[in-house]
Amino acid sequence: MAGQGRVKLKIDHVEKTFQSRKGEVVALNGVSMDIMENEFVSVVGPSGCGKSTLLNIIGGLTEPTSGAVYCDGEEVTGVGTERGVVFQQYALFPWLTVRGNVEFGLNMQGVKKEKAYEIAMKYIKMVELEDFVDSYPKELSGGMKQRVAIARAYAANPSVLLMDEPFGALDAQTRTQLQEELLQTWEKEQKTCFFITHDVDEAIILGQKVVIMSARPGRIKEIVDINIPYPRNQETKMTTEFLDVKNYIWSQVYKEYLAVKK
Ligand SMILES: Nc1ncnc2c1ncn2[C@@H]1O[C@H](COP(=O)(O)OP(=O)(O)OP(=O)(O)O)[C@@H](O)[C@H]1O
Ligand SMILES: [Mg+2]
Repeated sequence: MAGQGRVKLKIDHVEKTFQSRKGEVVALNGVSMDIMENEFVSVVGPSGCGKSTLLNIIGGLTEPTSGAVYCDGEEVTGVGTERGVVFQQYALFPWLTVRGNVEFGLNMQGVKKEKAYEIAMKYIKMVELEDFVDSYPKELSGGMKQRVAIARAYAANPSVLLMDEPFGALDAQTRTQLQEELLQTWEKEQKTCFFITHDVDEAIILGQKVVIMSARPGRIKEIVDINIPYPRNQETKMTTEFLDVKNYIWSQVYKEYLAVKK
């Protein structure tokens, strides 16, 4: 798994400087890393260190100031169906039902109606929302909306999933449940995942690697391999292996939080 196979995403000396009223903000200062096909990479780091900026550059939503990202060897110059994004705030279409939201991308891709229905239902079942197919977003809880967003991303069948704190707004119980669902789905239909979180436990339980970013201007401070075998579940969080790596990552991240405060 980790370290094998072929490079899916190449992040090559990416720099990003924003112009703001207060002057220039260097959000990313030379970020390079290779992400392998089907690899699950978690990203942690203090607020403002450039995590979302990096995700948006990989997604083709933001242009780097210099450097480039390559997906399957091709330079990313805009959004593409092979790269699906899940944001923290669900971003569902309020005028569409659960099924309508999940089918949306498929319709855009020109998938035939019956096929789109079949695919949508498969992923709606995966996230256990089959009783809510005809409900509208306003009728759903936060956790349910986030399930729809995940089903929608999977249904479009991207080979890369970019997730920016997708569970950040959820209560602890819903969060662990969605972690389990995401783990099971990734174990079944491996995809290359780039998953941002502030939660070190979440980063470790999901990821084959945890990227620790340093305080602004964002750089990669360290990449930690998580050599805990899959399948993993919540009980994995009690193991010594897990606790050891958690202590280590937490101490490294904490230093960066302190650097921000200074
Ligand atoms: N459009 C923009 N214009 C100006 N500055 C920006 C813009 N987007 C981000 N920044 C700045 O770039 C830096 C990195 O922001 P980014 O959103 O990537 O951080 P982050 O690591 O995702 O933080 P958080 O954990 O709070 O989500 C911040 O200092 C932010 O103020
Ligand atoms: Mg962010």
